[in-house]
Amino acid sequence: MTNETKTAELHVDGKTITMPMMEDNAGFRAVDIRTLWRDARVYTYDPGFGCTVSCQSAISHVDGEKGQLLYRGYPVEVLTEHCTFVEVAYLLIHGVLPNQAQMEKFSDLFNSHSMIHEDMRTFFRRYPERAHPMAVLSAMVVSLSSFYPEVDKTDEDIDMAATRLLSKLRTIAAFSYKKSIGEPISQPSHKLSYCANFLNMMFSSPVVDYQIDPIIVRVMNQLLVLHADHGQNCSTSTVRMVGSSGANLYASVCAGICALWGPLHGGANQEVVEMLERIHREGCSVDKVIEQAKDKTNPRRLMGFGHRIYKTYDPRAAIAKKICHEVLARLGKQDPLLDLALGLEAKALADPYFVERKLYPNVDFYTGIIYRAMGFPTDMFTVLFALGRLPGWIAQWQELKRDPHQRIGRPMQLYTGPMQPAFVPIDQRT
Ligand code: ACO
Repeated sequence: MTNETKTAELHVDGKTITMPMMEDNAGFRAVDIRTLWRDARVYTYDPGFGCTVSCQSAISHVDGEKGQLLYRGYPVEVLTEHCTFVEVAYLLIHGVLPNQAQMEKFSDLFNSHSMIHEDMRTFFRRYPERAHPMAVLSAMVVSLSSFYPEVDKTDEDIDMAATRLLSKLRTIAAFSYKKSIGEPISQPSHKLSYCANFLNMMFSSPVVDYQIDPIIVRVMNQLLVLHADHGQNCSTSTVRMVGSSGANLYASVCAGICALWGPLHGGANQEVVEMLERIHREGCSVDKVIEQAKDKTNPRRLMGFGHRIYKTYDPRAAIAKKICHEVLARLGKQDPLLDLALGLEAKALADPYFVERKLYPNVDFYTGIIYRAMGFPTDMFTVLFALGRLPGWIAQWQELKRDPHQRIGRPMQLYTGPMQPAFVPIDQRT
C-alpha cells in the first residue's frame, strides 16, 4: 500500500478540496475522503458500496476484469489443485502456508475441539424438523459464546475461539442435517481428516458405514477452498461491521452466516438448483428462462449469474464447472440439471443482454449440481458455503482487531422523512 504523492480535487461551493490518493499492491487506487465532511460539509453517496473501500486488507484480492482471485497472493487455481482446506485455512488465518509440523499441530487442534458440548446437543432436539439448517447453524454459532465465554481477552482466547469455530462448525452442520432427517447423529472421529470427518458425520448411520471415497474427499476440499475468502463481500463486511462494535468472534460470524443466507449471496447455490429443478419439472425451454430473466417486470433473475466485481468469468465458476464434470463421471451419474445448466450458460453468454451487462456464471452456478451428486440435500448447500467461508471470516475479523485505522462501522444517510410536523396528542388524532 502506498500513499501517493498524487491528489484528487473536489470543487464544492466554490471551494477546492484536495484529498490524498492511495494505491494498493495490485495497482487499484482510491481517494482518501476521510476529511471531506470536516473540510466541505458533504458526504459521499454510494448505495450498495460499489465504489467504497471500507478497509485495508492483506487476505484476498479479487480482480474482476482479469477474473483473478488470490488468497494471500496465491491464485485460487493453484491452492485448489495442491492444498487441502485445512492448509488454506491456516494460510488465510496465519498469513503463510504451514510447514508439515505446523499443519499437524493445526489439524490436531481440530480433532481435540470437534465435539460440541453435551448441553448444546440438546438444542438440536428443540428445532422443528423442517428448520432450515442455516437458521440452526447461525443460532448454534452464537450459542458457542455462552458455552465458551473466554472469547477475546487475550490472543490465546482469540486463537482458541477461532479453532473451536473451525472445528465445531462442521460438527454442527452435520448434526443439523441429521436432525432434519430424523437420524441419530454421528460423532466426529480423531482418525479422519477434516473433510473425511465431515462427510462421515453427514452420511454414516448406525446401520450403514459410509465408504469414504478419497476422490470425493478431495472434491470436498476443493469446494471448501473455492469459497474460503473473497474480499469485502456482503457476509464478510457484515462480520467486520459487527466486529467493529467490539462484538466477539462467535457473534460476528453468526451475523455473517445470516448475511450469507440471502439468495443474492451464498443462498444462490440453493436457488440455482431449485431453478434448474423447476425448469426440468415444468419442461420449460431455456429460451423462455432467459427471456424471463431479462424481463424487468419479472422478479426472476438468472440465479448463479452476475457478480458485483467479476465482469468476466468468475474463476471459481470455471473450477466448479470442471469439478462438476469430474464428479459426475467418477460417480457414474448423469444429471439432466447439468445439461440444462450448460444450455443456459451457452444461451446467456451469446445473448446481448448478458453480454452488454457482462453477466457470467458465478461460483454458485455449478456448485449445487456437484453437492447434489455427492448426496447433499439442497437446503444444506449454503451451509457448505458457510463452512468454506469460515476461515476467511475469522482472518478478516482478526485483521480488523489488529487494524490501527479501525473504527466502529457507521455509514451516513440522506434523510428523506418529514421535518418536525406539528405534534397532535393521541386523543385528537384521526
Ligand atoms: N439475471 C438477470 N439480470 C441480471 C442478473 C441476473 N442474474 N444479475 C444482474 N442483472 C442485471 C440487473 O438487472 C441490472 O440490469 P440494468 O442495468 O438493466 O438495471 C444489471 O444486470 C446490473 O445488476 P445489479 O443488480 O446492479 O448488479 P449488482 O452488482 O448490484 O448485483 C448480484 C450483483 C446480486 C450478484 C446480481 O448479479 C444477481 O442478483 N445475481 C443473481 C443472484 C446470484 O447469483 N447471486 C450470487 C452472487 S455470487 C456470491 O455472492 C457468492
